[in-house]
Amino acid sequence: MKVLITGGAGFIGTYTKELLKREGHEVVILDNLTTGSESNINEKDVFYKGDIHDLSVLDNETGINVIVHLAAQIQVPVSIEDPIYDMKQNIEGTLKVLEFAKKSKVKKVIFASSAAVYGDNDNLPIQEESKLKPMSPYGISKMTAEKYIETLCEINNIDYVILRYANVFGPKQSTRGEGGVIRIFYDALAEDQPPQIEGDGGQTRDFIYVEDIAKAHLYSLNTSSGVYNVSTNKEITINELCKIMIQEMEKNISPKHIEARKGDIYRSKLDNTKFITASGCKPSYSVEAGIRKMIKELE
Ligand SMILES: NC(=O)c1ccc[n+]([C@@H]2O[C@H](COP(=O)([O-])OP(=O)(O)OC[C@H]3O[C@@H](n4cnc5c(N)ncnc54)[C@H](O)[C@@H]3O)[C@@H](O)[C@H]2O)c1
Repeated sequence: MKVLITGGAGFIGTYTKELLKREGHEVVILDNLTTGSESNINEKDVFYKGDIHDLSVLDNETGINVIVHLAAQIQVPVSIEDPIYDMKQNIEGTLKVLEFAKKSKVKKVIFASSAAVYGDNDNLPIQEESKLKPMSPYGISKMTAEKYIETLCEINNIDYVILRYANVFGPKQSTRGEGGVIRIFYDALAEDQPPQIEGDGGQTRDFIYVEDIAKAHLYSLNTSSGVYNVSTNKEITINELCKIMIQEMEKNISPKHIEARKGDIYRSKLDNTKFITASGCKPSYSVEAGIRKMIKELE
């Protein structure tokens, strides 16, 4: 299949591109390199430096079957400081991608959504039908983009797979963004500095290794339209996470607690049953196995 990846020079996009190419798909990348990096692009990649707000750079790329839409503003704090910018990137930008999908007769759109759409929810693990109560403009923009995708894809007869990722981590991740805490802890420990835990550290997350997200994209090529959680369905506190990293990196350092961040959810664990049943795609890495692989690759 011919697959366009928006945001394909970013963290998740790079792993997705590599896997899709290994599996024999033809990949086209569009990225404006705001947070992505040219070093993630290699000579053999078909790469367009451009913005999702103006997809005319792709006018000569005919026959795109699927769009994996990853390009976005990904930082909760930025969305709080500048909600209009967040809206333009994540809502308006997604509408531009949908307009292109219609014009180019694309068959399917795969969208990177987030656990941020749920907000705080005591009923764990969170299922897809749970009430959406986003706590930040980022969560609102992802939720709204989802609704536009569902509605416009139904109207225009385009298949869609909306994936609500848990917190993603892996070697190419920067310290910005949603799942960045593992990389932030890594960077601190590598420099023999104490990792900084926001709040009491009792907050939990469901961490999924980036290669499992790339795999979810691959399987989504053959998954029916719908909204799916992609996670390990395991809840881990930030204190526990920090302990694992200190052990794995063989450091004798204690973490430091700092002020909690605004707009952050407290507990998170996503039920992944629906996606596993619909796609047959199960995560291959536990948090510990992912951390070990990440440390090995970064050393
Ligand atoms: N990393 C996580 O834990 C996580 C969790 C849930 C959802 N997501 C979603 O996954 C997607 C990918 O995130 P990531 O972690 O790889 O972040 P990233 O910042 O590494 O990737 C985003 C890419 O999009 C590009 N981009 C941004 N705005 C663009 C625009 N207007 N036009 C063209 N390109 C643009 C950036 O240059 C970057 O390469 C995002 O939609 C994010 O919201 C990530």
